[in-house]
Amino acid sequence: MTDEVPGKCVAESRVVLNMMMNPEHANRLGNVHGGVIMKLVDEAGGLAAMRHSRSPVVTVAIDSMTFDEPIYVGSVVTLTAELTYTGRTSMEVRVSVVAEDPLTGSRVHTNAAYLVYVAIDRQGRPHPVPPLCIETPEEQLLFQEAAERQRARKERHQREQALRRRIDPQPNEE
Ligand SMILES: CC(C)(COP(=O)(O)OP(=O)(O)OC[C@H]1O[C@@H](n2cnc3c(N)ncnc32)[C@H](O)[C@@H]1OP(=O)(O)O)[C@@H](O)C(=O)NCCC(=O)NCCS
Repeated sequence: MTDEVPGKCVAESRVVLNMMMNPEHANRLGNVHGGVIMKLVDEAGGLAAMRHSRSPVVTVAIDSMTFDEPIYVGSVVTLTAELTYTGRTSMEVRVSVVAEDPLTGSRVHTNAAYLVYVAIDRQGRPHPVPPLCIETPEEQLLFQEAAERQRARKERHQREQALRRRIDPQPNEE
């Protein structure tokens, strides 16, 4: 008898989200706002993390968000979110974005981002997640790269906290 939690594979939590870009998503020249895409990326990533953990999640980090090509009104954006890594309570999700012109069928890769979510319990405390089972050499590589990013994020977070303690006024001293 073992207490080991069974792993879940990447395909079990994959999210594919399609959304038409309308004038309210864009500036006067018809370029879709970066913030609109960031919100969709966070929603797709959060849904993948919830599917994996079957638990509420909060976003703790968004990084490596790139904007490679503009997106225009009339395009359909497709966001694909897949888990790349799980820790004890954290999950990294890669979200890629493709914009399609539905009239011509032309498709262009516009964005990619890595986000970290933490599963939480009813009290808002971090809560363990199932391990990610790795099925392909590509998933193995993505997992190793994600583990390295997560290590760097933790170091950055600790350095930032130390800096904040030195230079930011404490709320009760203001
Ligand atoms: C998420 C939260 C509950 C974590 O609390 P905490 O006291 O930092 O908990 P821990 O230190 O045990 O960290 C929990 C996990 O988050 C990870 N984590 C915490 N901060 C992180 C960061 N900046 N980057 C990456 N991972 C981070 C830890 O590595 C740990 O992962 P592991 O269990 O897989 O090893 C707390 O930071 C929080 O509520 N943050 C606000 C989240 C939020 O409101 N997001 C926006 C709206 S959804």
